[in-house]
Amino acid sequence: MQVLVMGSAAGGGFPQWNCHCPMCVACRQGTSNAQPRTQSSIAVSQNGEDWVLINASPDIRQQINANPQIAKANGPRGSGIRSVIVTDSQIDHTTGLLILREGLPLNLYCTEMVRADLTQSFPVLAMMKHWHGGYRHNEIKVNPVEAFEIEEVAGLSFEPVPLKSNAPPYSPHRNNYHVGDSIGLKITDKDTGKVLFYAPGLGEINRDVMAALDSADCAMVDGTLWQDDEMIRLGLGTSLGSDMGHLSVSGDNGMLKLLEPFTALRKILIHINNTNPILDPDSSEHAQVRAAGVEVAFDGMLIQV
Ligand code: MLT
Ligand code: MN
Ligand code: ZN
Repeated sequence: MQVLVMGSAAGGGFPQWNCHCPMCVACRQGTSNAQPRTQSSIAVSQNGEDWVLINASPDIRQQINANPQIAKANGPRGSGIRSVIVTDSQIDHTTGLLILREGLPLNLYCTEMVRADLTQSFPVLAMMKHWHGGYRHNEIKVNPVEAFEIEEVAGLSFEPVPLKSNAPPYSPHRNNYHVGDSIGLKITDKDTGKVLFYAPGLGEINRDVMAALDSADCAMVDGTLWQDDEMIRLGLGTSLGSDMGHLSVSGDNGMLKLLEPFTALRKILIHINNTNPILDPDSSEHAQVRAAGVEVAFDGMLIQV
């Protein structure tokens, strides 16, 4: 399967419009080698023609225009995006559903928890009904977990992995976890048997996450913050990464340590916040990540799993 990183930054993107943290300033002024990044999304395909978009970021228009393989179509209108999955109801993963309105109807796959948020607290699905009937909802079942296939994107199968992250501030499930508020995905190429595990928001590790990492050939996982108190240290806010449902990259209980035992796995950090020093390829933190055998995703990164 082909995996295309549409956007590798966390919510806000990089540089974030109103952020003057050292990373954003250096990127804006061109005084570091850190590349700008758009907000969190990937697309996957088995045949390189038919793609499923996983998470729809507010930057989706720019992301499609930047990737000719996904922009192309046979008729006067269209794109290679045949279907959309969203893994939670966060702004950075769902605002693009508004931007895609000209291409509706489209099949949308999400859990019941996410559908409820996107109908009530942030009613994008209700609004979009006015554009050619809007999104056709297909439920991702998590209780119990059920694998599913997507008719328009042949050759791949998808299995949800419920994750403990945090629901968005506007959700009734903020700090009130329900199974299905947030999922990771195990995506299997049915011909080759190769597996991608995608989990841009990982707040807590459990047995299912370990099993998913164990079964995968490639993992694209939460690289939001380097340190849990990074935003506070920089004077940018009062929240810890863990409050927002993100495990930090460094530290004894961090992502690098977690990934260490999985020696056969290709490991890629994604959903990287603009404060995270790993965005600068010349930083010592970036060097530590690389020394641990881990890659840092960038926009337009195309990999074969
Ligand atoms: C998150 O993952 O916590 C989000 O990026 C927050 C946001 O988009 O505002
Ligand atoms: Mn996010
Ligand atoms: Zn910043």
